[in-house]
Formats: sequence, C-alpha cells, structure tokens
Amino acid sequence: MMPGWLDSVLTYLLQWGPHHDPPKQNMDDIDDLEDVFELMFSCGWGLVVAIFVLLLLFWLFLYLLSLRNQYNLAGKHVLITGGSSGIGKAVAKEALLRGAEVVTILARNEEKLEATKSELERLITPKLDQRVNTISADVCSEELQEELEIGLSGLPPVDVLINSAGITFTASFQDTTPQDFEKQLQVNVLGSVRPTKVLLPDMIEKQQGRIVFISSMAGQTALYGYTAYSASKYAVRGLAEVLDMELKVHNIRVSVSFPPDTDTPMLQVRLILIGS
Ligand SMILES: NC(=O)c1ccc[n+]([C@@H]2O[C@H](COP(=O)([O-])OP(=O)(O)OC[C@H]3O[C@@H](n4cnc5c(N)ncnc54)[C@H](OP(=O)(O)O)[C@@H]3O)[C@@H](O)[C@H]2O)c1
Repeated sequence: MMPGWLDSVLTYLLQWGPHHDPPKQNMDDIDDLEDVFELMFSCGWGLVVAIFVLLLLFWLFLYLLSLRNQYNLAGKHVLITGGSSGIGKAVAKEALLRGAEVVTILARNEEKLEATKSELERLITPKLDQRVNTISADVCSEELQEELEIGLSGLPPVDVLINSAGITFTASFQDTTPQDFEKQLQVNVLGSVRPTKVLLPDMIEKQQGRIVFISSMAGQTALYGYTAYSASKYAVRGLAEVLDMELKVHNIRVSVSFPPDTDTPMLQVRLILIGS
C-alpha cells in the first residue's frame, strides 16, 4: 500500500505541474513575459522537481560513499613534516580535532616548533589522552633516521605520515641556477623520500598506514617562473603515484595533494620573490 504523501507527489509529477492548462504550442501565442513564464511552468515544473530530487539523492549517495571511505584518525599517531607552519600546522590541528592520539610535528626551528606545540595543545580533548610531540630535524639530513628514532621513542608507531616540509623558489629559467634546482629537489623531493623510508618498515610490519605527499598545483600544470619548484612538485606526484601502486599490497595507501596558492608564510616569500 503506497503512503498517501507519496501518492500525492507521484500524481503531481505525472500531471507535470500544478495545473492542467495545455501548454501553448505556437510561438505567436506567446504575447508577453507572463506567457513565457506560464509556458515554462506548465511544461517543466514537475520535471524540475523530479531532477532536483534525483540530484539530491545522487549527492546524498556520494556523501555517504565519502563517509565510508574516510580514514578514521581516532587513536592514531600522525607525523607531519613541516608541521610547525602553514599547511602542515593546519593539518596538525585537524588531526587533533579528528581524535588523533599523538600528533608529532617535525621541522628545523625549535622555537617555532615550541610555539606551535603550545597552540596545538589548546585543541587537546583531555578525555582522549591526546598529546603533541615535536622533533627538531632537517628532512634532508643524513642523521634523520637516528633523529626520528630518538624523537619517537616511547611513542606508538606512526600510522599516518604527512610530508609537508617544503621550500619555494621563483625566477625565470635564465635566473635559476643548477644549485637552485638542486636545493628544490633536495628539500621537496628527497625531503619526502627520507622520512618515508624511515617510517615505512613499521607500516609494512603492521600491514597498515597512510602516507600523504604535498605537491602543488605547480605539480600539475605549468606556471611561469617555477621551473625548479615545478620540476620538484611534478617529481613528488610521480613518486606518490608509483609508491601507491607498490604499497597497496601492504594495505598502505598513498595520496598526493595539489594545493593552490594558500595564505601561509611560504606564499609571502613567493610574493616577495615575484615582486623583486
Ligand atoms: N602555500 C602555498 O601557496 C602552497 C601551495 C601549494 C603547495 N604548497 C606546499 O605545501 C607545503 C607546505 O607549504 P607551506 O605553505 O605550509 O609552507 P611554510 O608555511 O613555509 O611551512 C614550511 C614548513 O616546512 C618546514 N621545513 C622547511 N624546510 C625544511 C627542512 N629542510 N627540514 C624540515 N622542515 C623543513 C618549515 O619549518 P623550518 O623552516 O623550521 O624547518 C615549516 O614548518 C610545501 O611542500 C609547499 O611546497 C604550498
């Protein structure tokens, strides 16, 4: 037995609109704007409602699907390189708000790390037993493995690694030296490879983990004046996509993010470089 309300909706839709005046067929009959509206409504009103309902259902379906695929951070250990500033810091905040148990931020400048730690600690939910940990290290350093081992001792293994540490450089190709290229590649590419290499064996052993690489829109499309930066960010994309292929078998997923211009201290540096 069909409920009454559904019966009314279906009857309404089948009648194609709120009234039954036959739509005007001849353009000569359309004298003024009022007639145009009348024609539109008498022909398409029910159709518009039906399309709207279908779109709404489709959107709901996609939303439920995205919830199903969402990785649950509750109780996880998230390590963010470049976590003392900009995008990395924003991700650290989000991780705490989503219930991560430990958030480790890694960067070189200790003062900035401590200031960010205090800022992040204000977001801690006491009953979740969350904590913020800092590691002062250079992602390009040969000693990174040792520094990570010391900085992570006594903590649960890292479940999620976000490679956000990066630097930028803007100049025309003629004004970009091979050393500039080398520096970009060192920090932006190898600076993501090194932490990943250190943390991966634990993830493989546990057969679970997530690794995120922060590339850039400049890693997807050509932007004037970014030969060195763009080369490094395209490389990050290639690295992430191949790694994802290789690690799926271990239940470790790799993703890559391509942010557009984002208002962080890095963007300010870039604007100064462009200005000069
Ligand atoms: N902002 C944008 O418009 C934008 C757009 C697209 C992509 N991105 C990418 O997003 C990522 C984050 O950028 P952001 O805008 O958040 O930059 P940011 O505010 O300048 O932060 C960069 C972070 O990386 C750390 N870092 C830099 N070099 C490091 C090194 N050698 N070792 C360890 N840590 C290092 C910095 O701390 P220390 O200096 O103390 O080490 C800082 O915590 C970068 O990979 C960037 O390329 C940014």
